Amino acid sequence: MQQSQSQPPFPWEDDTKAFTKAYAESLDAQDTLAHFRGQFIIPTKHDLTRKTIVPKDEEPPSPLCTYLCGNSLGLQPKATQTYVNRFLQTWATKGVLGHFTPHEDELTPPFVDVDDMASKLMAPVVGALASEVAVMDTLTTNLHLLMASFYRPQVGGRYKIVMEGKAFPSDHFAVESQIMHHNLPPAEAMVLIEPDDLEHPILSTEKIISVIDEHAEETALILLPAIQYYTGQYFDIARITAHAHSKQIPIGWDCAHAVGNVELKLHDWDVDFAAWCNYKYMNSGPGAMGGLFVHERHGFVDVDVNENGNGGSGSMGRLSYRPRLAGWWGGDKKTRFIMDNRFLPCPGAAGYQLSNPSVLDISAVIASLQVFNAATMPALRQKSIKLTAYMEHLLLNSPSDKQTIFSVNSADSKLFTILTPSNPLERGSQLSILVRPYLLQGVYARLVASGIVVDERKPNVIRVAAVPLYNSFMDVWEFCREFLEACAEAERENQGKTG
Ligand SMILES: Cc1ncc(COP(=O)(O)O)c(C=O)c1O
Repeated sequence: MQQSQSQPPFPWEDDTKAFTKAYAESLDAQDTLAHFRGQFIIPTKHDLTRKTIVPKDEEPPSPLCTYLCGNSLGLQPKATQTYVNRFLQTWATKGVLGHFTPHEDELTPPFVDVDDMASKLMAPVVGALASEVAVMDTLTTNLHLLMASFYRPQVGGRYKIVMEGKAFPSDHFAVESQIMHHNLPPAEAMVLIEPDDLEHPILSTEKIISVIDEHAEETALILLPAIQYYTGQYFDIARITAHAHSKQIPIGWDCAHAVGNVELKLHDWDVDFAAWCNYKYMNSGPGAMGGLFVHERHGFVDVDVNENGNGGSGSMGRLSYRPRLAGWWGGDKKTRFIMDNRFLPCPGAAGYQLSNPSVLDISAVIASLQVFNAATMPALRQKSIKLTAYMEHLLLNSPSDKQTIFSVNSADSKLFTILTPSNPLERGSQLSILVRPYLLQGVYARLVASGIVVDERKPNVIRVAAVPLYNSFMDVWEFCREFLEACAEAERENQGKTG
């Protein structure tokens, strides 16, 4: 179970030097993953403010920005250009031969097999068998494809979908439209789990379980986020999945904010299905191809060969697999190019593919996956827990002692609170900081002016994520110092206005 372990105390908890720059530097010096930062392109402060993308003239050197926004869009790995350029060269020099012909200097296999390479590399990142993962399409599309397969409402039987009331809007729209697609009324069929406290919208596992229990007899599907996009809360996937199954309800997880962020074990947790995007912590570029997981017990394809030796949908009744929306790329590789209109799905998640993948796009995903596999999720998670706990410590315990540079006593000021659970095992990299509503504009503007990239959610939340592949403890220290100063300055300005 992901949240039953306890976390040892962090070394900075009793150390007054924790607020000094030297202390942050010492944490970086001990970081065994620090070299991965060099594998990413980190924009300079000047890059962020220049009116053009390409510099027009020779520019004086500029310091790197402090990029803490991997929860929204991850930075570009240096390998991406290499992989994308090699693909472009393959296409340019080989044309259609690139589909099937291997080459001595290829970085990815021929185009027809590139998706296999991606799923093999993706599997350890989400804790799955390679056959349970497909790198394909985009998140909302994949949610629809999966719901088309797993949401099978019965007339007079189970028809409801349980989800959270504060879900990312695209998930809400996807569920609502699936329900309407079956000619059912969303007002009745959509069960929305609402937080007890709207100001502090954390959902306890008990609350989720109680809503599931209340609707269990009528529920056909549950869809939840592994990590909530707004609060950064990491749900207890293992326990909630087991509970759903005890009520015979299939459950799917939106892993947009969890993939590449926390150590998922989708197979072991017996999750029915999951989907994610690859542009946040997965660093594959805006709108990059996403991924999906289908547990192996749902991915079977039983072919009972008939007397004439034929399988496939041409011999209906002899082929059994979970129903889905189909396209040729989900068809078994041995028969895919026979073009005989008999759909024989590939076993596993690959059988959910519809179209041949964009090799341009998947090249970027593969480049990023190579970095993840070199670093490994267990090691990344260990560093992530430390980075985020250090940030929380600096934000919440800053003394007013001037020597430390942190001139604001955050504990007294109460200019902000952290929405994200304080238990490191109930969150990933992201901290969602709720500031007093009148402070957001000023605080955010000062962070931008200081070259610190975070993400604001109006009316008053700043989401900040220190990601272990490219962020340092110094990034965290810089952010905290600037954020606390920015809060104090915005408060002084506000008092000046009102006083
Ligand atoms: C939780 C969640 N669900 C769905 C989406 C929509 O993703 P896409 O535009 O890739 O379909 C996002 C995008 O950020 C998200 O964070």
